[in-house]
Amino acid sequence: MLTKSKVILITGASSGIGLSTAQYLASKGHRVFGASRSQPENVTFEWVCMDVTSEESVKSAVQQILAQTSQIDVLINNAGLGLAGPLEETTDELVNTVFNTNVLGVLRVCRSVIPIFRKQRHGFILNISSIASGMGLPFRGIYTASKAALETMTESLSMELKEFNIQVCSVLPGDISTNINSHRLVANLREDSVYAAKFSKVHRQINDEVSHAAQPIIIARAIEKIIHTPKPRLHYTVGPIVQRATVWLRIILPQRFFEFLLMRFYGM
Ligand SMILES: NC(=O)c1ccc[n+]([C@@H]2O[C@H](COP(=O)([O-])OP(=O)(O)OC[C@H]3O[C@@H](n4cnc5c(N)ncnc54)[C@H](OP(=O)(O)O)[C@@H]3O)[C@@H](O)[C@H]2O)c1
Repeated sequence: MLTKSKVILITGASSGIGLSTAQYLASKGHRVFGASRSQPENVTFEWVCMDVTSEESVKSAVQQILAQTSQIDVLINNAGLGLAGPLEETTDELVNTVFNTNVLGVLRVCRSVIPIFRKQRHGFILNISSIASGMGLPFRGIYTASKAALETMTESLSMELKEFNIQVCSVLPGDISTNINSHRLVANLREDSVYAAKFSKVHRQINDEVSHAAQPIIIARAIEKIIHTPKPRLHYTVGPIVQRATVWLRIILPQRFFEFLLMRFYGM
């Protein structure tokens, strides 16, 4: 239930989870600034151009928002990029692009918004991570590493910002049906790659899972509840029970048994 209208900045608002969340939050009466590189059409929120990989672009977008409103209450760091491929054949360039977006991108936006939050003496940062952050998935080693980094960064930020009345948490979605499949970077395999057969099978499975997954509105609804929670938890998993359960299974099962189950799941 909406208790108070908030000014919200959400990154990655041109597609998928970000687009759905921006539209949903706007429909609930919040003033939403949705940021991305490409401009979405026919949306009910205010769009700002922002490339999270550019400090200048982030600063200019935040200035643009501040020129229109005197405050920002909530920052949702959602912009993100997938990457699939065997680690051995993943180039530095791909790794840099993913970390520059999924980890440094979040840091850049935080660096621009935290001073505003500190001045206001309140703020809420919600990072969109992934259930996959808690485990290395085959052929998604860099993506899962970037989300694991985001998870620990969330925990550090939470402690550092507590004294300024800034709350920090992360949402870990399971598979959600978005455009992440078509936007995902894919490593170029060598012609004689020893991974070709297994990778192509697992890659197909990853794409299928996302195509048949839940709609992004489930994340939007969860986020709306979280931003109204007076004392939010540090991490929220959202998605099918089986996927949420893997977070606990990873902790309680013997490590090699968990690995065996994952490999069985991916037919490896
Ligand atoms: N879908 C899933 O199954 C799933 C599961 C767990 C976690 N997630 C996470 O959820 C978040 C959203 O993903 P999605 O599934 O909604 O994917 P998506 O449909 O591909 O949307 C990704 C969004 O990120 C934006 N983006 C990418 N690079 C950017 C950059 N350099 N600067 C600004 N914006 C950028 C894109 O906008 P532009 O290209 O227009 O800039 C787009 O709006 C990601 O962090 C993803 O890792 C997704």
